[in-house]
Amino acid sequence: MAKKSNQSKTLPIYILNGPNLNLLGQREPEVYGYTTLPQIEKMCAEQAAAHGLSIVFRQSNREGEIVDHLQEARTSGAAVIINPAGYGHTSIAILDSIQMLKIPVIEVHLSNIHRREPYRNHSYVSKGATGIIMGLGAQGYLRAIDAVAENLKVKK
Ligand code: DQA
Repeated sequence: MAKKSNQSKTLPIYILNGPNLNLLGQREPEVYGYTTLPQIEKMCAEQAAAHGLSIVFRQSNREGEIVDHLQEARTSGAAVIINPAGYGHTSIAILDSIQMLKIPVIEVHLSNIHRREPYRNHSYVSKGATGIIMGLGAQGYLRAIDAVAENLKVKK
């Protein structure tokens, strides 16, 4: 029987995006850049494939739906990369869902939230994250995939 490739053995990386990120490219581009979310999804799929990995890419404007996606990742994902957007600053429910995970979780923000308004300086998600990448724009997602790939390689 043909040997299975690593790609078919490893579960996908769940890349989850919070509210208003569907409008990237149009939304305050001076802060968040001109790259759209579909473009980020394509870049992420290519970066993951270069590591022999696959992705599930989601965006939701609803807190409960993000909780559902995190619960799905609990059993179906190898790792989570999450840009919680505005919910990072408010949501204990999203933190609770992250704290149930036994897989790596990388928090990503396009902007550096520590250089911005005081109400953006704190993220509940950071308490549950394995690592955090911020301020690198869309490139941050790719660096998060590199970090996850390294982490999964170490564990093999
Ligand atoms: C963001 C930063 C948040 O403060 C903001 O609410 C967002 C995007 C970022 O990617 O820089 O929606 O998470």
